[in-house]
Amino acid sequence: MFSFFKKKKSNVIAPTYTVSDFSFMGGDMHSHLVPGIDDGSQSLEDSVRFIEKLYSMGISKFITTPHIHGEMFDNDTQKVQKHFQPLKDYLAQHIPEIQIQVSAEYFLDTYFLNDVLPKGLMAFGKNNVLVEVSMAGWNRQFNEIMFAVQVNGYNPILAHPERYLYETKMEVFEALRNKGVAMQMNLLSILGYYGKSIKTNAEKMLEMGLYDYCGTDLHHDRHLAHITDMPNTHQEILWKLSEYGFKNNELYQAIA
Ligand SMILES: [Fe+2]
Repeated sequence: MFSFFKKKKSNVIAPTYTVSDFSFMGGDMHSHLVPGIDDGSQSLEDSVRFIEKLYSMGISKFITTPHIHGEMFDNDTQKVQKHFQPLKDYLAQHIPEIQIQVSAEYFLDTYFLNDVLPKGLMAFGKNNVLVEVSMAGWNRQFNEIMFAVQVNGYNPILAHPERYLYETKMEVFEALRNKGVAMQMNLLSILGYYGKSIKTNAEKMLEMGLYDYCGTDLHHDRHLAHITDMPNTHQEILWKLSEYGFKNNELYQAIA
């Protein structure tokens, strides 16, 4: 794993090659591409267009993760799979080189603990599940909920920890990681798309080697534009990310 975001100028390692696409990611494991089911893509046409663009930039494996978030996005496994099927069928017919699987981004709250988890989760990879927490503060039951996820045999991946601005102590994420909670960075965070503080958090976590996975968290055209411009606008960052050693590749073995 590389450690360079804080290196003194004299020690900066210059990029030794140009990164022109996202094949270094080994696939995307966080996106909102199931049409009309959350705040992501709203149509099959948009989903296909987003996927075609990412495919042209080296991403051919997708685990797409619509929100399952009690009050805000009242989704469940059946609804997600029903809305996913047309996209899956279209891609299988027209771009069979693309591998895509559906899962979810589970919001950890009491509703999740009582109503979602007992019915079973859509896992991927090695029984992994993507989970998020509130942007406003840790749920008081966070430890209990996370423990319940693990006791049920799932390996949680915490989505974009750098975006939880109430928690800037890296030891907290380090301790979670030591308890088996993997960490996923949003590409848009390291670009500064969500603001400087989130970018700084992401840099710290990269520096400490706390990330396991990298995802686009793609919702719409603005996200797509920032991400696909990266080879032109953020070559040095892209080069550093390509050297980091994200483990996305390990998640796609089970895609049928
Ligand atoms: Fe997301």
